[in-house]
Amino acid sequence: MLEGKVVLVTGAGGGIGRDFALAMGAAGAKVLVNDLGTSVKGEGSDAGPAQKVVNEIKSAGGTAAASTDSVADWTAANRIVQAALDYFGRIDAVVNNAGILRDRFFFNMSIEEWRAVIDVHLNGSFYVARAAAPHFKSQESGAYVHMTSTSGLIGNLGQANYSAAKLGIAGLSKSIALDMAKYHVRSNCIAPFAWSRMIGSIPTETVDQKERVEKLKTMETAKIAPLAVYLVSDAAKEVTGQIFGVRANELFLFSQNRPVRSVHRAEGWTPKTIAEHAVPALRTGFYPLERSQDVFSWDPL
Ligand code: NAI
Repeated sequence: MLEGKVVLVTGAGGGIGRDFALAMGAAGAKVLVNDLGTSVKGEGSDAGPAQKVVNEIKSAGGTAAASTDSVADWTAANRIVQAALDYFGRIDAVVNNAGILRDRFFFNMSIEEWRAVIDVHLNGSFYVARAAAPHFKSQESGAYVHMTSTSGLIGNLGQANYSAAKLGIAGLSKSIALDMAKYHVRSNCIAPFAWSRMIGSIPTETVDQKERVEKLKTMETAKIAPLAVYLVSDAAKEVTGQIFGVRANELFLFSQNRPVRSVHRAEGWTPKTIAEHAVPALRTGFYPLERSQDVFSWDPL
C-alpha cells in the first residue's frame, strides 16, 4: 500500500513505533527510523535501537535508514526531516510517535517533569510536523499521524504533564488538518492501548494484579500498526482531522468536543441566576470525573 512513499516514524526504536516502522517497510515504504534511544523517563541516549530496527527492515527486504536525533529540539527535528530527504529524496508521511513519561501527582509535579514531557510530546510533535510542512505544501501531498492518549482525551491520575501534552496534540493535529487541507495534506491522531515498556511497570504482586497484566499483554504493540499504515496510504485520502483508537482487535473513532446543552436568558446572567437556573439545566450534561479505565471498562478483545 505504500510503494514509493517515504515515511518518517519518530520513537521507532521500540514499542509501538518499532512495529509502525516494520509495518511501513513491509508495505513498501522507505522508512526513516528515528529514535533517541532513551529511557521511559527520557534519560540518556543510545544509537542502538534505531539501527536495530533498520537492520530488521532491511533483512526483511525493505529499505530504511536510522536517525538518532531528539524530536524535542527544533534544530534536531529539522535534521530528522532532512535525513529522510538526504537518504530517500522526498518525504510523504510523518508519524509523531516518540514519547516519554514523568508521572507524578499534580500537586508534587516539578517544573522539570512538566517541561520534559511537554517538550517531547507536544513541542516535539510540532517541531517534526512543522519541519516537514514546507515539503508537504510544495508537493501538495502528505500525511501526518500523531499519537494521542485517552489520558488526555478522557483523563488519568498522576499525568497532568502527559494529559495536557496529549490533548494538545489532538488540537495540533486538527489545526494542521484545517490549515493544510487546501494542499491535500492530511492529519489524524491515534490513541493506542498497547503493552509496551511504557505501561510495563504495573506491579504484579497479587493474583488479581497478575491476571490484569496477563489481559493487558493481549494489547500487542503490533496491533496498532495496520491503522497507521492505512492512514498514511492513499486509501485514506478522504480521512483527515479524526481521532482513532486501537486496543488489541478493537478499533474506535473518538468524539470531538461540541456543545452538549445550552441555556439562554434574554436579560443575561448573574452568578445567582447561573446557580439557580443555568447549572440545574446544564447539570444533566455534566461528565463524571472518569479516568480512561472507567470508560474502557471491559477487557481488551
Ligand atoms: P516506548 O517507550 O516503548 O517508545 C517510545 C520511544 O520513543 C522510545 O523508543 C524512546 O527512545 C523514543 N523517544 C523518547 N524520547 C524521544 C525523543 N526526544 N526523540 C526521539 N525519540 C524519543 O512507548 P510506546 O508505548 O511504544 O509509546 C509510543 C507512543 O504511543 C507514545 O507517544 C505514547 O505516549 C503513545 N501511547 C502509548 C500508549 C500505550 O498503551 N503504550 C497509550 C497511549 C499513548
